[in-house]
Amino acid sequence: MCGIVGYIGYREAYPIVIKGLKRLEYRGYDSAGVMLFDGENLKVSKTKGKVSDLEERASKEITTNGSIGIGHTRWATHGVPNDVNSHPHISNSGDLAIVHNGIIENYAPLKAELIKRGYIFHSDTDTEVLINLIEEVQKKDNLKLGKAVQVALNQVVGAYAIAVFDKKTPNEIVAARLGSPLAIGVGEGEFFIASDASPFIEYTSNAIYLEDGEMANIRLHKQMKVRKIKDDSLVNPTIQELQMNLEQIEKGGYDHFMLKEIYEQPSVIKDTYRGRLHANEGLIQMAGVEDNLEKFLNAERIIIVACGTSWHAGLVAEYIFEEFARIPVEVEYASEFRYRNPIINSKDIVIAISQSGETADTMAAIKLAKESGAFVFGVCNVVGSSISRETHAGAYTHAGPEIGVASTKAFTTQITVLTMIALRLAKAKGTLSNSLFHTYLQELVIIPEKVKEALETNDRAKEIAAVFKDAPNCLYLGRGYNFPVALEGALKLKEISYIHAEGYPAAEMKHGPIALIDEHMPVVVIAPKQGHYDKIVSNIQEIKSRSGKIIAVVTKGDTQVRELADYVIEIPETSDALSPLITTIPLQLLSYHIAVMRGCNVDQPRNLAKSVTVE
Ligand code: F6R
Repeated sequence: MCGIVGYIGYREAYPIVIKGLKRLEYRGYDSAGVMLFDGENLKVSKTKGKVSDLEERASKEITTNGSIGIGHTRWATHGVPNDVNSHPHISNSGDLAIVHNGIIENYAPLKAELIKRGYIFHSDTDTEVLINLIEEVQKKDNLKLGKAVQVALNQVVGAYAIAVFDKKTPNEIVAARLGSPLAIGVGEGEFFIASDASPFIEYTSNAIYLEDGEMANIRLHKQMKVRKIKDDSLVNPTIQELQMNLEQIEKGGYDHFMLKEIYEQPSVIKDTYRGRLHANEGLIQMAGVEDNLEKFLNAERIIIVACGTSWHAGLVAEYIFEEFARIPVEVEYASEFRYRNPIINSKDIVIAISQSGETADTMAAIKLAKESGAFVFGVCNVVGSSISRETHAGAYTHAGPEIGVASTKAFTTQITVLTMIALRLAKAKGTLSNSLFHTYLQELVIIPEKVKEALETNDRAKEIAAVFKDAPNCLYLGRGYNFPVALEGALKLKEISYIHAEGYPAAEMKHGPIALIDEHMPVVVIAPKQGHYDKIVSNIQEIKSRSGKIIAVVTKGDTQVRELADYVIEIPETSDALSPLITTIPLQLLSYHIAVMRGCNVDQPRNLAKSVTVE
């Protein structure tokens, strides 16, 4: 949450910072700001609203074309979104500026102490406390910026990725991270600082990802020094070559990133299994699994920890692991798991699923599991993310950057990875017959084609969206493998269109939610031919006899549900176990079109941010 950008070099900083903020806007978009240095003074412009609002304001306020700048796009934690609480924050002397992603948990006592020493605060933020703490430390012991930042950070509790500038040492930016991501782009005579590499990919393909607890003194024409914040020891940072390209982070002709990402699913699912799934040879090879096969085979239980959409992928995986590999699975909300006293054994395998690899609750659950002696396996999308580094082993989903705040391709690629793991274990354990194992491999290979076919439901989804766009509520029902898809469909609808939606196992409906059904209630029922078809047909009848409006996702050629439903969306046939990869597609499209028709900001829904780095 929150995106930070910094530039120091020979180019004009302002356009780089603004463009960078736009690319990071998925991380938060309730306010934004920039600080430029004109050689004498700090020039700050900040505002409530989006980066485009900032641009409008800064065009009147920022006159310098200096080549040092920092910027911020915010997802509010401390203090409402307004101009004053926006970053950058400036120290009382006016010398220091900071942008910050994270939370300083002990800001209250620090603030009280600074107030006693005469500091005045203008905002409600924890960040303004941090910059004044740095100033106080600097003044007290006459320290250089880097040292002052280090001493101050050793006094704070919380999470941060920061970039700090001091006009007294104008050739330098100090960056540091703990619990929030930070990448440094290393160019020829220039450096870029950002929450991820997207702001600088057209300038350099060399990046250093700071590790937790590290800070960097980034000075022009000097070697960058990276050290541990705690003990000052120097670190030799690894320069990584970036895999990302510009095309991946642009809309490529689509109206929204979400739509682009929905349409990318056939190709990214292929990327996910490429080199891992060898259907003709009957092999699945995933390095993280092969290297730890014994551990997986000896596992008495798999505990999956995740949040949101990733948690839904975990629920699908529960069905798959138990059916294919006969290993008991528990799926936990990371935020609940971490705060109870879970029973974790050394023979448990914990699988953490996270698109961003930065989700604070998932990260905390991993730490807890590791402390209890469990082997922790990560399923992440963002390469080099905190979770991918914190876990003992893992498998990337290779979905490419997901920029739309609502997760789409992350979900289907997570399911693809988890299915491959389950199949690999099933083969090793002999829990699936050889012929079924081969059938699933062959079927996975052609899933991208079927997803492509399912995308052809776009026009139908749009027609149905036009009918239901003003509904205040919506129910989603599914059974078995498609119960988590019902949850995911409801989440998509509520987060981007602000329509209240609930997902339920179809049979649970009669235990309460059925009371909601009347002629105004749209009920989306996932009813593919494979699975508990007859049972779901009965559930549909129950809805129909209470006059609910039925929108059914059915297998091509279905006649029985078609007779009962008000609207049907036809998808290609697959096995029950792989059906979530297909049934989820029309639900993504339906939510997308409803949100567009309601005039909602699809890629940046209100109150949300893409990577949730706070509890
Ligand atoms: C919903 C959505 C969120 C995320 C959740 C976990 O569309 O995007 O529910 O799935 O915040 O995020 P990751 O997967 O990054 O850990």
